[in-house]
Amino acid sequence: MDTKQSLAQVIAAAMERCSPGVEGLPGCDEICNYLEIPPQKEMGDYAFPCFKLSRVLRMGPPQIAAKLAAAIDAGDLCEAKQMGGYLNFYLNRDNFARKTLETVLAAGETYGAGQEGAGKTICLDYSSINIAKRFHIGHLSTTMLGHSIARIYRFLGYRTVSINHLGDWGTQFGKLIYAYKTWGNRDAVEQNGVPELTRLYVKFHEEAEKDPSLEDEGRRWFKAIEDGDAEALELFNWFKELTLRDAKPVYDLLGVSFDSYNGESFYADKTDRVINELREKKLLTISDGASVVDLNEEETGMPPCLILKKDGTTIYATRDIAAALYRKETYNFDKCLYVVAYQQDLHFRQWFKVIEKMGYDWAKDLVHVAFGMISYEGQSLSTRKGHVLFLEDVLNMAIEKARAIIEEKSPHLENKDEVARQVGVGAVVYADLQNGRIKDIDFCWDRVLSFEGETGPYVQYTHARCCSALRKAAELEAAQPDYSALSDDYAQELLRQISRFPETVREAANRYEPSIITRAVTELCKAYNKFYYENRIIVDEAPVREARVRLTRAVKNTIKTGLYLIGMEAPERM
Ligand code: ARG
Repeated sequence: MDTKQSLAQVIAAAMERCSPGVEGLPGCDEICNYLEIPPQKEMGDYAFPCFKLSRVLRMGPPQIAAKLAAAIDAGDLCEAKQMGGYLNFYLNRDNFARKTLETVLAAGETYGAGQEGAGKTICLDYSSINIAKRFHIGHLSTTMLGHSIARIYRFLGYRTVSINHLGDWGTQFGKLIYAYKTWGNRDAVEQNGVPELTRLYVKFHEEAEKDPSLEDEGRRWFKAIEDGDAEALELFNWFKELTLRDAKPVYDLLGVSFDSYNGESFYADKTDRVINELREKKLLTISDGASVVDLNEEETGMPPCLILKKDGTTIYATRDIAAALYRKETYNFDKCLYVVAYQQDLHFRQWFKVIEKMGYDWAKDLVHVAFGMISYEGQSLSTRKGHVLFLEDVLNMAIEKARAIIEEKSPHLENKDEVARQVGVGAVVYADLQNGRIKDIDFCWDRVLSFEGETGPYVQYTHARCCSALRKAAELEAAQPDYSALSDDYAQELLRQISRFPETVREAANRYEPSIITRAVTELCKAYNKFYYENRIIVDEAPVREARVRLTRAVKNTIKTGLYLIGMEAPERM
């Protein structure tokens, strides 16, 4: 049981003593929710706002607070004092240290985990790269946010289904086949992979400017894919395989994997049923020859959702609707998350509305988890302007730079290559998940790789510092801890932060916001470094040392779990 719950029990018992038999008194869970963390230290560690009881007890909050203060029996947990309409609790510091460390160390790697998600399923649609394009930095956020949110939910006991909804459908693939057959050859594509496909695609557009009839050729080949023509399919699948092969090293470096790679093409034969259903439910109307679902623009502010183009072909939204129906039937999700840039906000709102209009009450379980744009050293990135940055290059550059720093700072480290990879990749991931997801990110090397300030290397370094202290302690005799050695403000602040970690994880889950964990872990590191400068860990008095070692171990475990949840590794030496 955590401190807050213990406090809630103490308060509930005092209430019962003050006002036996009164109906409508809050239970422990409710009290737990009412407990606040006071804005100033002098006001204690927790406060209970007594006005919550005024109505049931027909008394003013200060009176209630005074009565409760007299009736509280908190043993060695804390002291309670009335202050105005609040009951303030001052935790017994030794006891708080003992309780917190016992809980954290008993839980080990599972501290903060839970089973509240048992029996529930979350589908996550993320990364979702496009075929015949290289993995560029614009797909970093969706990949890492999705990966992290999936880990957070699994940590809370949910079943998760990670889906890479590949962008593998559309006339562009017909154009690519035409370009390949006209200007390409197998060896060049085998050898150069995706960049060669990109070259062919660009060539197609250059030629089509001169000769617009090529557009028809592209459409013909796309139709061949749709109709299952053997040659067209063979080429199309090969291009897809090449793209996934090209993306594999990036996913491997990031430690990201998926349960399903069912992309847009997977739903191509599942859109008919969407169209039929929309027709039966009288939701389709014809506008300019195209089929649309009217969304009541005056009321919702959304233009109609296009379902079938004039030429009878489906669009992105049609396939998303088919995919949602398929996922509901296949996985019976409790929530389906779409981790996609905010630019697609209207797209998602539109087709979520279509699902609602179809009469599916689970439309409310579809969530667009939107995020901001990424720029690089102050410059915006756009494929069209030719200003692209490939993620593999960024990661490799980060690893190389980390390697140089390690060479300088710890020339005797054993596994430099591995640590350089963990630090380099970690720095990129940290920078990506550092701020609220809707904020735009500017990626800047000096900041990302610094060992000071709020960075990946700083957090990893603090973890390694804990590990080093623990290694030294392991060589010395153990003893019973003297928890009074942890009653100073620095240690208490650390304990408070650690004890809040389970709540932090849940808040991150509820808001689909890994940055809440990134920030908490960073604050924990700052607090530990302050503590570390004020107190020696490895002191001669064994009981004092043991208390500080246990605190260090709890910090280390919490940092490691936090880093895991945001998709970062935690090297033990660096
Ligand atoms: N492939 C798309 C892109 O790169 C993202 C797909 C997102 N997922 C979805 N179900 N629409 O922009």
